[in-house]
Amino acid sequence: MLIGADYYPEHWPTDRWPTDAKLMREAGIGVVRMAEFAWNRLEPQEGRYDFAWLDAVMKLQAKHGIRVILGTPSATPTAWQVAKWPDLLPVKADGTTFPFGIRKHYCPRHEGYRDACRRMADAMGRRWGRSKQVIGWQIDNEFGGIDFGAPCFCPRCVGQWRAWLRRHYGTLEALNAAWGTAFWAQEYTDWDQIVAPMQPVTSQNPSLHLDWRRFASDGIVEFQQVQVDALRPHVRGQFISTNLMGMFEDLDYEALATPLDVAGWDNYPIWAAEAVDPAMGHAVTRGLKQKSFLVFEQQSGPSGWNAMTGTPRPGQIRMWTWQSIGHGADAVLYFRWRACRFGTEQYWHGILQHDGLPGRRYKEVRQVAREVAKLSKALDGTEVRAPAALWHTYDVNWVIRFQPGCDKMTFWDEAKRFGKAFARRGIAYDVVTPKADLGRYRLLVCPHAVILREDHVEALRKFAQAGGTVVFTSRSGERGWTNIITDLARPGLLGKMTGCRIPEYDMVRQDKPGQIEMADTGRLYDAFGWCDLLETDGAAVVARYAAEFYKGTAAVTVNRVGKGRVYYVGASAEDAFYDDFLARLADEVKLPMLPPLPLNVEVLERRGKAGRFLIVINYTADAQTIDIAVTGKNLLGKGTRGPKIELEPYGVQVVQAR
Ligand code: GAL
Ligand code: ZN
Repeated sequence: MLIGADYYPEHWPTDRWPTDAKLMREAGIGVVRMAEFAWNRLEPQEGRYDFAWLDAVMKLQAKHGIRVILGTPSATPTAWQVAKWPDLLPVKADGTTFPFGIRKHYCPRHEGYRDACRRMADAMGRRWGRSKQVIGWQIDNEFGGIDFGAPCFCPRCVGQWRAWLRRHYGTLEALNAAWGTAFWAQEYTDWDQIVAPMQPVTSQNPSLHLDWRRFASDGIVEFQQVQVDALRPHVRGQFISTNLMGMFEDLDYEALATPLDVAGWDNYPIWAAEAVDPAMGHAVTRGLKQKSFLVFEQQSGPSGWNAMTGTPRPGQIRMWTWQSIGHGADAVLYFRWRACRFGTEQYWHGILQHDGLPGRRYKEVRQVAREVAKLSKALDGTEVRAPAALWHTYDVNWVIRFQPGCDKMTFWDEAKRFGKAFARRGIAYDVVTPKADLGRYRLLVCPHAVILREDHVEALRKFAQAGGTVVFTSRSGERGWTNIITDLARPGLLGKMTGCRIPEYDMVRQDKPGQIEMADTGRLYDAFGWCDLLETDGAAVVARYAAEFYKGTAAVTVNRVGKGRVYYVGASAEDAFYDDFLARLADEVKLPMLPPLPLNVEVLERRGKAGRFLIVINYTADAQTIDIAVTGKNLLGKGTRGPKIELEPYGVQVVQAR
């Protein structure tokens, strides 16, 4: 377990560096991440690399036993690079050029810049790839195209887009068929006729939109790969990673994470009213490699660019840290060591204020770091073993985002409905993609699986066949892989597996909900969103609609498949529905459950040779009393704890279960 900080020595006079290193040491900071925006200092002039200053900082830190994660600086091309390559600046969807001076001001397909990134990564790898002090690498920073996720629309990208399509479809005939260009006279007779979906043309062909998203994502994945390939031959015993963004969905994180050794993300929970938000980000990151991960950046102060959030309440930094560890983080680095006096992020506070004096937040970090150090021996090597997972492809997210279909549908809202229900009973879940080893789970929930490939369907069917439970929610099975709606009876390729048919559907607003009734208990729940009206074709009815002209029509069904079960949930519903439904599922597949926990209290578990460790966090500002169903050693204090546990506001307890 490591506690760390994101550090920008280039922002401070060199005579401050020793003080920082000393203060870090005293706070228990064991690792710093550096250099991810420092291209201008690492290569002040083309071809003249200057690594001496970074060596000097590292040397000071080494004296205090501080290790290092190095960032490759590709997120911030320098002014001299932009002057050299005016066409490096990306083109936005509105046709204007993204300016220098923010960041991510690069077209990911610019050959010259890709080569510069390759040379930089190679040079850094040569210099530090065998350093014992360096534990790993962060490539770039929060990949996602231009600033907040828009891909580049420059002529180079559009040219390569056409080539990409040609590679994927081979002939225009195939593309025309796959996209359904018969609609509105879109049939192409030359590849050069195909455009990119620029604004304000929001209602371009949905298949074109989806392919453009895939193409844009591929560009970033390739851009990252150039640096992975450059570093790989040099690094020894160091990980290569990048800082992801949890529920961010502009990029295919499955593809992005594939060449990395470990996943990591940036966690800013001050915006998250509910524990499920950071929890879901952790579950995504953990699910990508199905193992423990890092938090490269975690909130440690009030934040904002031009306007700020409030400051973390006493105990919140500590609680967020333990929440991260409880979800499987093996290292947590705080963003940032010290608030910067200048630049866009003047208001993005860190552990220290602008004045550099240790204050309340510094003391809280020191407390957490001490606790973590004390428990490291016990927790090192333990991990979260989730028995359940949420399954998706990024294509699902993209299709829903472009065409929500009904009132504000998002993949993550549906995922969070289940996430909250899992948390209520202390059941861990990963968020996984098709590459994952599904054999680890007993329960798979596929929220709004609107677009599917045949091999996905086959993998999910096999999972059920072998005894697992699969849950699909509304709109599942709607589309084939090129984003065309199925001509089979809905739910399309899932018809056989689910044993149901969907002759019709209704759109119901969340503020004017309908109702569903559970068949066995008679309990009623508000239901809304995309409501599939189900007809059974082999399946049994679990719940029925209890309102509207379709009162009595099946809303939730279950089908036996081999040794397992496949559910279809036709509507979204209020939280109580998921609580009851999940209790039923967990019971069927024999997942251990805790007595219901209050909202925003989490009981997390890491396991290993040393046993079971329960990390209990209170995400709320109110005291809570809960039942963790076991007793054990109180690792953050004395004596034993449980089964009843009292938690103070933002409180944390760590219990080693007997
Ligand atoms: C993160 C980013 C950091 C810093 C921070 C505060 O998203 O990776 O570099 O910008 O936000 O804005
Ligand atoms: Zn471009």
